[in-house]
Amino acid sequence: MTKIVAVLYSGGKHAQEEPRLLGTVENKLGIADWLKEQGHELVVTDDKEGAGSAFRQHVKDAEIVITTPFHPGYLTKEVLDEAKNLKCCITAGVGSDHVDLDVANQRGISVYEVTGSNVVSVAEHVVMTILNLVRNFVPANQQYLGGGWNVSEVARDTYDLEGKVVGTLGSGRIGSRVLQRLKPFDCAKLTYYDYQRNEALERDTGAERREDLKQFLSELDVLTINCPLYPETKGLINAEKLSWLKKGAWIVNTARGAIVDAQAVKDALASGHIRGYGGDVSSIQPAPKDHPFRTAFYKSQAPNGNAMTPHVSGTSIDAQARYAAGTKEILRRYFAGEKQEPANVIVEGGAYATKAYGQRK
Ligand code: NAI
Repeated sequence: MTKIVAVLYSGGKHAQEEPRLLGTVENKLGIADWLKEQGHELVVTDDKEGAGSAFRQHVKDAEIVITTPFHPGYLTKEVLDEAKNLKCCITAGVGSDHVDLDVANQRGISVYEVTGSNVVSVAEHVVMTILNLVRNFVPANQQYLGGGWNVSEVARDTYDLEGKVVGTLGSGRIGSRVLQRLKPFDCAKLTYYDYQRNEALERDTGAERREDLKQFLSELDVLTINCPLYPETKGLINAEKLSWLKKGAWIVNTARGAIVDAQAVKDALASGHIRGYGGDVSSIQPAPKDHPFRTAFYKSQAPNGNAMTPHVSGTSIDAQARYAAGTKEILRRYFAGEKQEPANVIVEGGAYATKAYGQRK
């Protein structure tokens, strides 16, 4: 019998009304009965913060931890040190920065994710958010819902995406899908910055690669961030990098909140250097009520320039079906002693299997 702990978000009445909300505590990724039939123990919780939380108590003797990036159970060094039996961490989704990957390597703990399961979902959200910001949709909608009709108030900050320069920081599965979807918008230029060259993307979209971060940022009207979070990308987009962007640029970050300095973004919006910021990720999740992104507005005019949502882009109903099925398949292979799908392996046998978390040889 294997003990498995799953940290998922609570669905409440929504999970009861919509059983396809699989990534919830209530619907348990659809794997509870399947695990029970095989005699395994599954503990599911959303209580994840602090040493007294259910997650911290149960992780001590668990062999497998499953968590989603939407409500992550953070597997820091401290938590991993307590998790003496842990052999396998599964990310039900994409992005395993909630695990201290170096410590996992030292301990020989495997980390798998359901690679590709929600990349279309995120790419669509990115395109939507870019359009929301550039077209100044949020203030226009709020004005309308509030009974107003002041065209100039919203039109003064409304632009066309056509003719703008859009660049992705990270051109993997999501970044490349964003640029593919933007191709018909007739942007002036599509660019990317990534230490891994993506020739297929260049061929398909005409995207130009930039090897110098300052040059990359200084050309952009729209920056979309699509690289993983790891020590070298933590705080990468800080006050200095923001100053390299063109005045009036927009930023969309659905990758991870900690890649940007949230207070520096808020300051750049307030000063007018940045015209808008959107995305769905915060450095701590759920984002605290006083998180800078909750009150970050262009020239301090609420709600202008803010297109934030809770972490929802990669957890559409369609994505949940894919990452739930992918989690089950990873477990099936684990129990059967079969090799995992190579693309799903982040670390295994004490080494990185992916090049996405830094330029690892
Ligand atoms: P991927 O592994 O296909 O692509 C990541 C790319 O980033 C790689 O090409 C890698 O070389 C590049 N990269 C790494 N470090 C870089 C750096 N310092 N500068 C420039 N490029 C760098 O990953 P995928 O599927 O595209 O996902 C990317 C990230 O998006 C995930 O790691 C995760 O953090 C986030 N994500 C967010 C979701 C959401 O719901 N908001 C859902 C899925 C992923």
